[in-house]
Amino acid sequence: MASPVSWVPFWPPLRLSIFLLATMTFSIIVYWRGWFPARGQRLPSSNAMGQPPAMAPILPPTTPPATERGMWTVNPAGRLGNQMGQYATLYALAKMNGRQAYILPEMHEKLAPLFRITLPVLSSDMVRSVPWRNYELHNWMSEEYRHIKGKYIRLTGYPYSWTFYHHLRQELLQEFSFHDHVKEEANRYLAGLRRQRRNVTYVGVHVRRGDYVRVMPQDRKGVVADKAYLEKAMGYFRAKYQEPVFVVTSNGMEWCRENIDASRGDVYFSGDGKESSPGRDFALLVHCNHTIMTIGSFGIWASYLAGGETIYLANYTLPDSPYLRVFKPAAVFLPEWIGIDADLSPLLNGSYKNNK
Ligand SMILES: *[C@@H]1O[C@H](CO)[C@@H](O)[C@H](O)[C@H]1NC(C)=O
Ligand SMILES: *[C@@H]1O[C@H](CO)[C@@H](O)[C@H](O)[C@H]1NC(C)=O
Ligand SMILES: *[C@@H]1O[C@H](CO)[C@@H](O)[C@H](O)[C@H]1NC(C)=O
Repeated sequence: MASPVSWVPFWPPLRLSIFLLATMTFSIIVYWRGWFPARGQRLPSSNAMGQPPAMAPILPPTTPPATERGMWTVNPAGRLGNQMGQYATLYALAKMNGRQAYILPEMHEKLAPLFRITLPVLSSDMVRSVPWRNYELHNWMSEEYRHIKGKYIRLTGYPYSWTFYHHLRQELLQEFSFHDHVKEEANRYLAGLRRQRRNVTYVGVHVRRGDYVRVMPQDRKGVVADKAYLEKAMGYFRAKYQEPVFVVTSNGMEWCRENIDASRGDVYFSGDGKESSPGRDFALLVHCNHTIMTIGSFGIWASYLAGGETIYLANYTLPDSPYLRVFKPAAVFLPEWIGIDADLSPLLNGSYKNNK
């Protein structure tokens, strides 16, 4: 960097005052950077997945700048997809309201092993001593969220709607960029699937099952993705791309192996199917060119970050499902994503058993 005074080669008094001003500005900037880690300034990264990087607790804000901007945070709840939604929503709403966002240690533990997130982390002592006011969010942006009152707000709920943060997409792609070792592992894996193909197109397929197989029909008057949906979605990519390769990840891999036709040689069952270590599956999906998702915030985030064509399961609940009061499809699926309607007939005729 050039010396701050080199462009004032004459007139000593002016030179002196400019020098003083520059020095003061510089010290203020240095001071502020200490409080608010700048964009691109990373928290220490981990070398092994599942091992959170060393914590970087933030000291109590005893200075005017920190207290004036307040402290906002978000309650970490649920698993990876939910917490990514909470992180992104906090990031966006704090910015809109001119507040400084901080995350809690639990969220840091969940997200930092995978991503190069930059929001500062509160120490447990800080978390206990701040007079938080909880502010519950629904899963779509509302005008009132631009004017949330309060210096010490803890957002709660399960927001993962693009309507909160899509205008900050580029920044969020940075926040959710993977550590090198995660990236390398995913790329190595995908390269291994290429075989003798010359013009391969990777399509990540996420089949969410687990608890949803029960929750959907019982609590939400809905279904999970069936065999016909996946065949249609894969047919779309087979018709459009020369050499598609489908990379299937799921928390119900046994069902996938039984129900996804792999006889063409273009399907690879890849995830380890363990909900306890979802990072590897997630990274694989994001490194694919396009996405077939089924339901759940995990698949929505994978599609959002992969950024290619996305096919989703649409209208997977009955119109009178209570779930539709809290879930607005238009706020969750990007307009350019392609929906394929779910087959609700098993729910309607009471024969919902294809997923048992
Ligand atoms: C590669 O495949 C895509 C579609 O899958 C096609 O548009 C493109 O022309 C192909 N490129 C070559 C070099 O064959
Ligand atoms: C498709 O994904 C692979 C693996 O991430 C990447 O190397 C390649 O550049 C992508 N192709 C296109 C057309 O984006
Ligand atoms: C889902 O249902 C809505 C409302 O009935 C309808 O407008 C839409 O075309 C359906 N399918 C998709 C893919 O959105």
